[in-house]
Amino acid sequence: MDSARRFACCLLICVSLWSSGVKCYRRPNIVLILTDDLDLTMGGLTPLKKTQRLIGDAGMSFTNAFVASPLCCPSRASILTGKYPHNHRVVNNTLEGNCSSAAWQKSEEPNVFPALLRSAAGYQTFFAGKYLNQYGRSAAGGLQHVPPGWNYWVGLDQDSRYYNYTLSVNGKPQKHGADYSKDYLTDLLANVSLDFLQYKSSYQPFFMMVATPAPHHPWTPAPQYQDHYNSTKAPRDPNFDHHGKDKHWLIRQAKTPMANSSVEFLDTAFRKRWQTLLSVDDLVETIVQRLEVRGELDNTYIFFTSDNGYHTGQFSLPMDKRQLYEFDIRVPLMVRGPKIKPNQTSQMLVANVDLGPTFLDIAGYDLNKTQMDGMSFLPILHGQMNSSSWRTDILVEYEGEGSDVSIPSCPLLGPGLWFCYPDCVCEDAFNNTYACVRTVTPSVNLQYCEFDDNEVFVEVYNLTADPFQLNNIAKSIEQEVLEEMNHRLMMLQSCSGATCRTAGVFDPRYKFDPRQMFQSHSWRLNRRRQKLK
Ligand SMILES: *[C@@H]1O[C@H](CO)[C@@H](O)[C@H](O)[C@H]1NC(C)=O
Ligand SMILES: *[C@@H]1O[C@H](CO)[C@@H](O)[C@H](O)[C@H]1NC(C)=O
Ligand SMILES: *[C@@H]1O[C@H](CO)[C@@H](O)[C@H](O)[C@H]1NC(C)=O
Ligand SMILES: *[C@@H]1O[C@H](CO)[C@@H](O)[C@H](O)[C@H]1NC(C)=O
Ligand SMILES: *[C@@H]1O[C@H](CO)[C@@H](O)[C@H](O)[C@H]1NC(C)=O
Ligand SMILES: *[C@@H]1O[C@H](CO)[C@@H](O)[C@H](O)[C@H]1NC(C)=O
Ligand SMILES: *[C@@H]1O[C@H](CO)[C@@H](O)[C@H](O)[C@H]1NC(C)=O
Ligand SMILES: *[C@@H]1O[C@H](CO)[C@@H](O)[C@H](O)[C@H]1NC(C)=O
Ligand SMILES: *[C@@H]1O[C@H](CO)[C@@H](O)[C@H](O)[C@H]1NC(C)=O
Ligand SMILES: *[C@@H]1O[C@H](CO)[C@@H](O)[C@H](O)[C@H]1NC(C)=O
Ligand SMILES: *[C@@H]1O[C@H](CO)[C@@H](O)[C@H](O)[C@H]1NC(C)=O
Repeated sequence: MDSARRFACCLLICVSLWSSGVKCYRRPNIVLILTDDLDLTMGGLTPLKKTQRLIGDAGMSFTNAFVASPLCCPSRASILTGKYPHNHRVVNNTLEGNCSSAAWQKSEEPNVFPALLRSAAGYQTFFAGKYLNQYGRSAAGGLQHVPPGWNYWVGLDQDSRYYNYTLSVNGKPQKHGADYSKDYLTDLLANVSLDFLQYKSSYQPFFMMVATPAPHHPWTPAPQYQDHYNSTKAPRDPNFDHHGKDKHWLIRQAKTPMANSSVEFLDTAFRKRWQTLLSVDDLVETIVQRLEVRGELDNTYIFFTSDNGYHTGQFSLPMDKRQLYEFDIRVPLMVRGPKIKPNQTSQMLVANVDLGPTFLDIAGYDLNKTQMDGMSFLPILHGQMNSSSWRTDILVEYEGEGSDVSIPSCPLLGPGLWFCYPDCVCEDAFNNTYACVRTVTPSVNLQYCEFDDNEVFVEVYNLTADPFQLNNIAKSIEQEVLEEMNHRLMMLQSCSGATCRTAGVFDPRYKFDPRQMFQSHSWRLNRRRQKLK
């Protein structure tokens, strides 16, 4: 049966049930609000008071939600595909790294979860905001490219802006200036979301994704919020301006203590980030209120999260994401919706690769038909999953960005580095390339990482004893645990679909399989050979 007939049919059933006074079942709607660079560990949720009340307090907040890669484009690709980076092949924010590239558009984009929601599950789909960083470039098909999966498309041209930007409105360019009441992007995204709610068909369930650039650089607040938090400073946590002498090469290069100019710069950035979040908080309230007025709130799941975390001053790095530490890989995640009890906190381990599977599960789509690496956490939301049967680890993968030539403002540094401001302290390098296993069980909270650099550097943290990751225990941890984590990492780095969901080292179901080790080794060697070419 084609989808139009199926829905007409479903509608009839609903109408006849309605007239006989029986409550009819409608498939739930789904809203995803995705922020950009919003941390959890530095108090990023503090300005989002209404969001916490309307989503977190009304549903479930996750304390152990992670991203598969702490950088916009790879992370967004993981959300859309439900895959780890080694499977979706988006490795950085550039076209060469597959961010919105022709190869991505051909091999991955047709199978993203919104495409399945639309074509196979009969959802109406709406997108507004920042998509993939290179979206809109002529080499990426220009603004006329409306990615498959979306019935209504309001996509931002390229990277984050607040004013002076161009949108693709269903494939047609729409230019915006810098007049607050007409152009402020966070507010505009709220307004177009309301338009969608008003004009969509009421016969089909909907999926709505609103992706704010806030609180990403250039951190331009709305005029009414520009004086807020004007004495707030970045938190001086134990890892703030702490020299990471036992960490990988890039961190060892950071200057401790930081120059005053760096400290001033990062405190200003921190304040402005919070100011921009006040408009995100308004956007969330606007959407939730409208759903309530329309009588659709009770049948709508609302997810709120971010594409990666952020740091300001940790281990003397002025500001960015792209590191393996908690501040960059851990993100907020709050969900409200049907059959989710209010005011719950879950410690269970979830990742951004799980979002797509969870949405498809809500829509009743058979997940066995997908190639996704993540898993649906709908049973957690519904209180039908306990920690002894849930997964115990996830993979984090990052391929460092660098410049082929010396950064002009820092000629002494040589090539291979990236984002060296404001005082020639670099936030990234080609050899900041790593993969980690992040393990969370009720009794273990561990991270094991390996670098693809000249030192084949290893970092291990026991987060139970050391939540700020001050002590790399790679040299002191039991050798057997170290070896098993190494095997597990190699297995996950070559996993695909169901093999990404197998039992981790601290899972009672775990069994060490030497064949996996052999396969993983050869995969890794191949990758190294390719790099050397
Ligand atoms: C880009 O994606 C294509 C298709 O998946 C893949 O063949 C290619 O290796 C990827 N490029 C990189 C740099 O990973
Ligand atoms: C927007 O563009 C105008 C004209 O080029 C410029 O004067 C203004 O400073 C820009 N504003 C922002 C916030 O980028
Ligand atoms: C959004 O809509 C409100 C209410 O209609 C309006 O006051 C505001 O100027 C709009 N903002 C933008 C950026 O379109
Ligand atoms: C800080 O904000 C308050 C109002 O919130 C304002 O009265 C004060 O002038 C601001 N201070 C600075 C230095 O901008
Ligand atoms: C940095 O600021 C501190 C106080 O905020 C001051 O004591 C110190 O001298 C300054 N350092 C430099 C190099 O300006
Ligand atoms: C959630 O908890 C807060 C604080 O304890 C309380 O004020 C609120 O009423 C609770 N919300 C719900 C929906 O139970
Ligand atoms: C999906 O596959 C699993 C494992 O093979 C099986 O147990 C489950 O019943 C399948 N689900 C559906 C809906 O077919
Ligand atoms: C956890 O769930 C599994 C399967 O759903 C069940 O067999 C087990 O008894 C549960 N354990 C606890 C401690 O509730
Ligand atoms: C992005 O990845 C591609 C493919 O690995 C690489 O050629 C390019 O140099 C990377 N870009 C940056 C800025 O590191
Ligand atoms: C990382 O790359 C930089 C720049 O190319 C180089 O100077 C440094 O020695 C490398 N470090 C490691 C551990 O590979
Ligand atoms: C981590 O630290 C906790 C608390 O100090 C300790 O009980 C546990 O054994 C440590 N785990 C590992 C793997 O070292």
